[in-house]
Amino acid sequence: MNRIITKISLIIWLLHFASHPAYSEPLLKEVFANDFMIGAALNRAQYYGDDLRAAPIIKNHFNTVSPENALKWEMIHPESDRYFFTDADRYVEFGEKNGHFIIGHVLVWHNQTPKKVFEDNRGNPVSRAVLLNRMRKHISTVVGRYKGRIRAWDVVNEALNEDGTLRQSSWLKIIGEDYIAKAFEYARQADPDAELYYNDYSIENEPKRKGAVKLIRKLIKEGVPISGIGLQGHNNLTFPTLKQQADTIKEFAELGLKVAISELDVSVLPDPKGFDGEEVAVSFENREQLDPYRNGLPSGVEAELANRYAGLFGVYLNYRKAITRITFWNVTDGESWLNNYPIRGRTNYPLLFDRSGKTKSAFDAVILSARKSEG
Ligand code: GLA
Repeated sequence: MNRIITKISLIIWLLHFASHPAYSEPLLKEVFANDFMIGAALNRAQYYGDDLRAAPIIKNHFNTVSPENALKWEMIHPESDRYFFTDADRYVEFGEKNGHFIIGHVLVWHNQTPKKVFEDNRGNPVSRAVLLNRMRKHISTVVGRYKGRIRAWDVVNEALNEDGTLRQSSWLKIIGEDYIAKAFEYARQADPDAELYYNDYSIENEPKRKGAVKLIRKLIKEGVPISGIGLQGHNNLTFPTLKQQADTIKEFAELGLKVAISELDVSVLPDPKGFDGEEVAVSFENREQLDPYRNGLPSGVEAELANRYAGLFGVYLNYRKAITRITFWNVTDGESWLNNYPIRGRTNYPLLFDRSGKTKSAFDAVILSARKSEG
């Protein structure tokens, strides 16, 4: 009888540890506790608690969360007189329950914003005054609702072109250049304590970085309440170089800004020819070449990915004083947006956790980078 009980306890013990990988592996948030917060963007299934595979990872490894879609204008404010708060409320409650530092993403962007925001009833562009008023109301409603709970906001996203000039978005065309300053002012009025970020991708490229520095210097000079810059960090195996990464963080830190790596991932797949940032459809013949790892990642590429992550984290650790957080865009490889962008239905491996939720060698490399920087 005793032997049976011992056996049963052993099985229970093993099952417990198998379902709590946290006990057998280092936790990202603990390893980097003295450096920066570590987080991930969550999808619906994750903050509703339906994704049981991701749940222990989110709870154990991360101390900050971002909403993949729930707070984008088209989701939370789909029609001029209708807000949809259900998902965003759940996201914020989920973050609070887990003790996470909660990020708001995003208030003003050219994408995932209903066209109607910029139009009158007849489909003509509205005036500057009308659009500013809509922007102010949206920001005060959304930021106001989560005041004191969402602690940092991406206020403006992707206002720059690759050459560093301002993107000709409807925001710019209708309001003019000061739409950016206005967005920050409205956000500050709605929550005096939240951190307010400008967020963008590929700022590591010289021309775009110059444009971003110019824009932010001007905002600071005008007294606009900007707290930091979010470098999205949608990287691949070669871009950005570690020098580009380091120079970029340094330059913004020297402006006195906090720096967040806000949407980190590393794509291992080739970009289609002529890729210009839009989603592309590819012919069947091209598929094989553009989707080479459908049946698994070769060990050589896996090692390259691990090495790449080690390099990037080496840079982040060097700038730990300026960096507030490192947020991965999604939790595991399986739900990464990079499986569907810029081409639908590929198999990418951009994160630290694989499709079954297990840690990858890239995870080990990241942990090792922290140990090295201690020693
Ligand atoms: C941009 C946006 C994010 C997200 C990603 C792709 O980086 O800021 O909200 O849409 O693209 O998922």
